[in-house]
Amino acid sequence: MNYKNKEWCDSMKLRFDYNNMMDKFVGAKEGFSDKEIEENYAFAENAFNKFARKRGSGMTGWADLPYVERHYFHDLLNVAKNIRENYEYFVVLGIGGSALGPTAVFQALCHLRYNDLPKEKRGGPKFYVEDNVDPERMEALLDVIDVEKTVFNVITKSGSTSETMTQYLIINDILTKKLGDKASEHIITTTSQSKGNLIKIALKENYKTFYIPDGVGGRFSELSPVGLLPAAVLGIDILELLEGAKYVDLQCNYESPYKNPALMSALLSYLSVKKGKNISVMMPYADGLKYVADWYAQLWAESIGKEVDLNGNKVFAGQTPVKSLGVTDQHSQVQLYTEGPFDKVVTFLAVDNYRKTVKIPDGCEDIPDVNFLCGHTMNELIQAERVATEYALTVKERLNRTIYLPELNAFTLGQLLFFFELETAYMGEMLGVDTYNQPGVENGKNATYALLGRKGYEEKKKELENAPKKLDKYVM
Ligand code: PA5
Repeated sequence: MNYKNKEWCDSMKLRFDYNNMMDKFVGAKEGFSDKEIEENYAFAENAFNKFARKRGSGMTGWADLPYVERHYFHDLLNVAKNIRENYEYFVVLGIGGSALGPTAVFQALCHLRYNDLPKEKRGGPKFYVEDNVDPERMEALLDVIDVEKTVFNVITKSGSTSETMTQYLIINDILTKKLGDKASEHIITTTSQSKGNLIKIALKENYKTFYIPDGVGGRFSELSPVGLLPAAVLGIDILELLEGAKYVDLQCNYESPYKNPALMSALLSYLSVKKGKNISVMMPYADGLKYVADWYAQLWAESIGKEVDLNGNKVFAGQTPVKSLGVTDQHSQVQLYTEGPFDKVVTFLAVDNYRKTVKIPDGCEDIPDVNFLCGHTMNELIQAERVATEYALTVKERLNRTIYLPELNAFTLGQLLFFFELETAYMGEMLGVDTYNQPGVENGKNATYALLGRKGYEEKKKELENAPKKLDKYVM
């Protein structure tokens, strides 16, 4: 309940540091001047106001999630309590926005080896997310769980996603064969109340169901029951998560980019893309935030990667998100970032205080090149490596910025997720694209349906059959 204490909340405020996006630090050729930001003030303000006018309507219902009437919380927490007390495994069946958020929050707020801990230390069931239809992954899951001791949470906003429905069909078949009528006790659905196939199935089978509000799309759904039920099952304080989102929303409730960090971040992203920075590298210096980079990748890629703008003009907008982990990827990607093409912006996620401190003990006294580490902590080492990487990029005139989390907890994570959602919404307004659709994935989906013989896709099947055949000479 720390979030009820204003002083504590203020001590947990996220800080957005964009020094290294500016000419003073990365040079005039790459960096932005104060004048350039000033010149775009009205442009940013306009994006803020456009979003503010839409907020809460259409597909921007996600912005209301931290504030919604929490009438269903009591029910959700009771369901979560029952699962924590009576089941050994909790499995999310879903894909994309229905899987990435729960995974990110799990990794950030649970023990980093949660599933390997004994039950007394976990306090809740083992947790798995099936974010694919790889048959080996499904078989591997079935090798490590006992379905009779498992609750499966089938999550799909549209209620029709083939991958999720496939996972469901397999699990439901196994459960029904083993448990007969009792199978339904092992399935909880999270879906749209108004459309899709899953709601029909849920009503027929009498599954416990939580609803995703209509104006909340998959990649913006983490603060709805999509993320809140898995989080509650894992013992995470979901109110603290939502309070964090509210807190950052308040910080960002300004039309001036100088006062609104998510708006400044979007403006810098927009100006960077205009300068040819087509890649956005998300580099957390914390294993806990590793999958926040995955979650962000979907949010950024699907929301702003668009062929046409709102007027139907071809714009081919977007910026490619890349996931990177500090310090691990210093040893695989940073060489490219410091010396390769000038086509990236790196966003570091820094944590001021890690939840653990590990001292590096004395040793190797006769080898000074190793011994210098002794007496320090791993905390000092990881911070030094982040600062050093930031410095190395900056002196090579590479655009970079840092978001600091005072520590990693539900309150700061709520802030971080909502910060990125706001930034994405502002960026979408700046680019003039539909932030909330994903027409680019439709053709692939339809082709899959045609290949599997779905009724109504006969024309597509013909189209595929008439496509140019691959030539053997290009297969080696
Ligand atoms: O952001 C989106 O809407 C999509 O990427 C979805 O998350 C993804 O396609 C899964 O959709 P659904 O939740 O409808 O199964």
